[in-house]
Amino acid sequence: MGRSNLSRELEFTLKHWLRWSASVRKRAVGSFDSLTKQFSQAQDERYQVLASSYELGTWPELCSARELRGNLHMLDLLDRALGTERPRGPSLDVGSLNWWYLPAQAAAVPGPWDGVEIDAHQRYASLTTRRGHAEWLCRHHQEARYHAGCLTDMSGPYGFVCWFLPYVVPSPLVSAGLPDRFFEPERLLGHAWSVLEPGGRLLIVNQSARESEAQAELFDHLDIDGHDLGPTPSVFATEGDDERHSWLATKPV
Ligand SMILES: C[S@@+](CC[C@H](N)C(=O)[O-])C[C@H]1O[C@@H](n2cnc3c(N)ncnc32)[C@H](O)[C@@H]1O
Repeated sequence: MGRSNLSRELEFTLKHWLRWSASVRKRAVGSFDSLTKQFSQAQDERYQVLASSYELGTWPELCSARELRGNLHMLDLLDRALGTERPRGPSLDVGSLNWWYLPAQAAAVPGPWDGVEIDAHQRYASLTTRRGHAEWLCRHHQEARYHAGCLTDMSGPYGFVCWFLPYVVPSPLVSAGLPDRFFEPERLLGHAWSVLEPGGRLLIVNQSARESEAQAELFDHLDIDGHDLGPTPSVFATEGDDERHSWLATKPV
């Protein structure tokens, strides 16, 4: 059984008051070598395509070994979901966590990025916070800004909104320790749609077929014409990654 709503509320309030982060000392991997040595043939072929299409040169200085592989996974998904016609910025990432995947987003859609995270003051054992890590990365991406707050604080307009793993059913939100009042998927989707400029694109990636069904219902309720890209596997997915399902919606002009 999950923790009570009251205990999640108290913890969230406490985090909000204790915002200080220890300084971030990144254990960057330094090069792609240790990762590429482990690649299967399919992974190596896909890596060569991505490395020849995008600027990945700074990634090993910014990412741990795990993040490096995760960014390749993200870039692989973005590359295939967006195709050759790239959205124009400025771009917004919703629910950015510590924004470990900013390198992939900045490579796929260059230009200004905002990232917004409601639980930005969540702390790690190192006494650093999600916000501390995200701001460290933003120092290396001068057009990126991390916002500790709710999606509804963001006003846009944006040419691209990217939303990886939104809470469309309650259980993942409860497991993450957030209070129940933050489960409002329809209002949040409505807001994400409202900050898009005409012709702007919204990419949503869900983490299972069940969540993708819930996503379809949300699009229906809000009368948004979401294009179902279906399951989005990647050669870079690891065993712990659930199957991803993607949606793309373009705001009418
Ligand atoms: C399942 S996690 C996904 C994190 C990240 N996008 C990824 O793919 O690794 C969902 C994130 O959305 C954040 N979130 C939930 N509601 C939010 C809101 N109203 N505004 C901003 N962030 C929110 C959560 O705190 C959590 O970090």
